[in-house]
Amino acid sequence: MKKDEAKKRIDLLRNQLTIHNNNYYVLNKPTISDFEYDILMNDLVQLEKLFPELIDISSPSQKVGSDIVKGFEQFTHEYPMLSLGNTYSTEDLKAFFSRTEKLLGFFPEYACELKFDGASISLIYENGILKKALTRGDGTIGDNVISNINTIKSIPKRIIANNIPEHFVIRGEVMMTRDVFERLNNEKENAGEQAFANPRNAAAGTLKTLDSSIVLNRQLECYLYFLLGDNIPYNSHFENLKIAKSWGFNVPEYIKLCNSENEIFDFINHWENERHNLKFDIDGIVIKVNSIAQQEELGFTAKSPRWAIAYKFQAEQVKTKLLSIAFQVGRTGIITPVANLEPVLLAGTTVKRATLHNADQIEMLGIHIGDTVLIEKGGEIIPKIISVDLNLRDKNSIAFKFIENCPECNSKLIRNENEAGHFCLNENCPPQIKGKIEHFISRKAMNIDGLGEETVDLLYQNGLIKSVADIYKIQKEQILNLDRFAEKSAENMLAGIEKSKEIPFQKVLFALGIRFVGETVARKLAIHFKNIDALINSTTEDLLKVDEVGDKIASSVITYFQNPDSIDLINKLKAAGIQFSENLENQIQYPALLSGKSIVVTGSFEKPFDRKKLEELVFNYGGKLVKSVSKSTTFIVAGEKPGPDKIEKAEKLNVQIISATDFLKLINLTGF
Ligand code: IVH
Repeated sequence: MKKDEAKKRIDLLRNQLTIHNNNYYVLNKPTISDFEYDILMNDLVQLEKLFPELIDISSPSQKVGSDIVKGFEQFTHEYPMLSLGNTYSTEDLKAFFSRTEKLLGFFPEYACELKFDGASISLIYENGILKKALTRGDGTIGDNVISNINTIKSIPKRIIANNIPEHFVIRGEVMMTRDVFERLNNEKENAGEQAFANPRNAAAGTLKTLDSSIVLNRQLECYLYFLLGDNIPYNSHFENLKIAKSWGFNVPEYIKLCNSENEIFDFINHWENERHNLKFDIDGIVIKVNSIAQQEELGFTAKSPRWAIAYKFQAEQVKTKLLSIAFQVGRTGIITPVANLEPVLLAGTTVKRATLHNADQIEMLGIHIGDTVLIEKGGEIIPKIISVDLNLRDKNSIAFKFIENCPECNSKLIRNENEAGHFCLNENCPPQIKGKIEHFISRKAMNIDGLGEETVDLLYQNGLIKSVADIYKIQKEQILNLDRFAEKSAENMLAGIEKSKEIPFQKVLFALGIRFVGETVARKLAIHFKNIDALINSTTEDLLKVDEVGDKIASSVITYFQNPDSIDLINKLKAAGIQFSENLENQIQYPALLSGKSIVVTGSFEKPFDRKKLEELVFNYGGKLVKSVSKSTTFIVAGEKPGPDKIEKAEKLNVQIISATDFLKLINLTGF
């Protein structure tokens, strides 16, 4: 290749990799798989090797991507946070073993570990107290996300052990388990928000959230894998991790010391299959020289240590044919393209469909119907299309164009500026109506027994319900005429509908399906405004005073109530007897014993009054729950392992610290 040709390709690769770094580290929305990213990076590294005169320190090959976000304080890493050299091939791995053996003069002992697929974190302890928690940032400077890290139960905030170094750093990965990820995405979908692509993105996105109460609710976990400092106890990485475990750190069991290549390959092969049974995602195996002295001898390149390597598992991929593209209309009117595929076996399940996300994705892939496509199942539940095999394309096929009209009602689709999705704005569009009704009756909303998706469809097809309000007009005789209903099932359904009139206001508000108003926000709005009329008449300013409500939610609430159809629906539901205010006789009336008091709850507590419950009690009894200690804090309720900074500050400001039992006594709950 000529130099000018190489320069062109190098520039292109650098641009692409910079965009992908931003998508991955900052936006937490990668558009290509790790494997594809590594191929691009490898291309760049090879070209820069061939033309060393074109190397530039600003090239993505020379530095780690940056995840710095606004809103956090930044600090320099005492030890740079480098990445690991990685490979997908056993040949490369063998080359790494020979290189190391040559440099050291012998085959060293290796520690083999899981490569946790989350967001890396560096925890800094002084005199046993957690002082800072820095994200990787650009490898040199990171964001201090300690307020979020403090919500992770398994990270000790204060270590009580003998002989701990006065100052040390411990690194690990912040993770979200797959079941928490699924719950979170369900909640997001219910609130009409965009779901996270996989648990890694969800963990990384959560870690960079500015509101720690959201983080608390996301139940992050942290696995530790690297102890650093001038006075760390042992010359063995493995022993250091073992002692860190005894100090209370969550060091996973899955580490193995290996003294031969075969043992290492056995470990890799074991986890290649077994990884599917873990409750979290791993994307490979990390192999580290175990002796710290040998690590020091081997040293670092600009980007990664010479004493460690990551062997990455290929995401499971397979080729199949794209038969057609269908479009689904969600309850908010969002259009989602879905690929129908020739059924194929992938990661143990038969795959018939793959998500295509939006028009940008289709355009980026340049898809033609009939193409042979490569699909991959990573952390995602639904597989995605990675690329098209152009060699197998039928020459007569034409590029697929995104639809312009709604597939259900034919209205012209709208695409807002800065939004990737297309929307159908016709509120009478059948799937939107049915979607709204399904959301309204769902368990977390009005929880109507005896009424499910199929029944909604049947009632809609027969013209018995055209909107949510019609549910309350259904007569027994009408449904007895329908095929699926007998006397008993009709009575059950009507009893379920009747019972939903007791559902409290906060759930009714969630049931209305206002975009971005999920369960938690609905609860906060209901408690703050107390009744629907106050909420209808609220201004943006009023709304922004509510915890967790930002511009996006406020504007969605205002838009919803500006629509006369929404007011009409609420009036009909009011007439049917639905609860539209918080002060209900059938709800427990709590005395305002904590009114005017600002309360901090910190540490972990045992059931039945765990932390969540205690926070709820503060709320119910009229107190104000605050996250940090200040002069105006009335008292702190402290449990096991309370936040050390909070305790320190409380002692300094003379804020009273009480136990959960004392707190319960204050609100006349005794006997626990
Ligand atoms: S050791 C100097 N061990 O992988 C290298 N890293 O690509 C220190 N990771 O930034 C890292 N599991 O976020 C190490 N068992 C493990 C790991 C691990 C996941 C992540 C970590 C690191 C990245 C490197």
